[in-house]
Amino acid sequence: MFVDFSADAIKHASYTHHTGEAFKSVITPQDFAYASDEIMTWDGYAATPLYRLENLAQSLNVQNILYKDEGPRFGLGSFKALGGAYAAAKVLQRELKNKFNEQAFLSDLRSGKYASLTKSITLVSATDGNHGRSLAWGAQKFGADCKIYIHSEVSEERAKAMRSYGADVIRIDGDYDDSVRIAKTNAEENGWFIVSDTSWESYTQPPTDVMAGYGVMTNEIIQELSPPPSHVLLQGGVGGLAASVCAALRQKWGKESPRVIIVEPDLANCLYTSAIKDTLTSVHITEETIMAGLSCGEPSPLAWNILREEASDFLSIPDTFIAPAMKLLAKPTGNDPAIVAGESAVAGLAAIIAIAKDETLRKNLGIETASQILVIGSEGATDKALYDKIISS
Ligand SMILES: Cc1ncc(COP(=O)(O)O)c(C=O)c1O
Repeated sequence: MFVDFSADAIKHASYTHHTGEAFKSVITPQDFAYASDEIMTWDGYAATPLYRLENLAQSLNVQNILYKDEGPRFGLGSFKALGGAYAAAKVLQRELKNKFNEQAFLSDLRSGKYASLTKSITLVSATDGNHGRSLAWGAQKFGADCKIYIHSEVSEERAKAMRSYGADVIRIDGDYDDSVRIAKTNAEENGWFIVSDTSWESYTQPPTDVMAGYGVMTNEIIQELSPPPSHVLLQGGVGGLAASVCAALRQKWGKESPRVIIVEPDLANCLYTSAIKDTLTSVHITEETIMAGLSCGEPSPLAWNILREEASDFLSIPDTFIAPAMKLLAKPTGNDPAIVAGESAVAGLAAIIAIAKDETLRKNLGIETASQILVIGSEGATDKALYDKIISS
């Protein structure tokens, strides 16, 4: 059944993490609480499912595989719906104060009270697809103009989805990191506001808000779980998702928090490389991974500040793991539910399947029969044509 998941293909860097309090100083408990209070009032808010894949767990000889399915999130297809849209509202709130001296509540923005002012503000970002969709949706919801930069490999279907929320979508030559740079330059030249999910020197507030927004998802998981799981596998692009989840888990469970394992594609493993060098390190992307949302060569420094204190292991996996994992979820065995999971969603699940059947990796990662493993199914079929092609291959 698991012939496609060769443990030999996994690279594992075990990491002696630093000690510190980044888990509560980079994104504070108040940041998480404020974001949750806002996002949970949005139309269409509903907790996403947390599935227990019992049959799969049994075949992997572990106690439990818990799969948080972000496919249904706000009808946008991924957990990213929580971050960009919320950060957009916060940028507008700050700008109303700075530019017009208006002290707006987020509810005022939602009700359109300041629409005549917000429409003069342009929000901009680079994206592989999901963050841009969230920002475009948020800009529309809160009444701002929106420009999204995409790189040459982002599918037209993903671009169309962003246009459907009224964004101006601009395709550039180059990869994701190039699109971040171009968005930045154009924003500076035109007085637009970048709402990015990654941070850089002197740019930290919107990415902090983005990560605070993701806390809604972690909070839903926490509400459903007691005791905490033993392990969590978190896929990394720039690292924002992973940093947010492990910070929130640590704030809740302290030393009882699960062991944090980061998973990245071989073709874009900047966090894995940062762990090996024990310092923030970028990698050059020479080929796009099928895990489009994870195709980032430059880690977010804010996220790294958390991960260097919370993560115990960094894994790098090949693209060949992805289609079999998506198919396994689409057509499960036994009584496990059928789940629609996109390419970036299954990285953690694919990794645990490969690990669980290999004695050395099991031992090195502390996986035992009693282990309870949490994975984040971070997206559904965000590119439906690609999803159908993979599943029918
Ligand atoms: C579906 C999906 N999963 C995971 C990630 C990784 O998130 P981050 O870049 O915050 O590490 C992304 C990023 O775009 C994504 O779209």
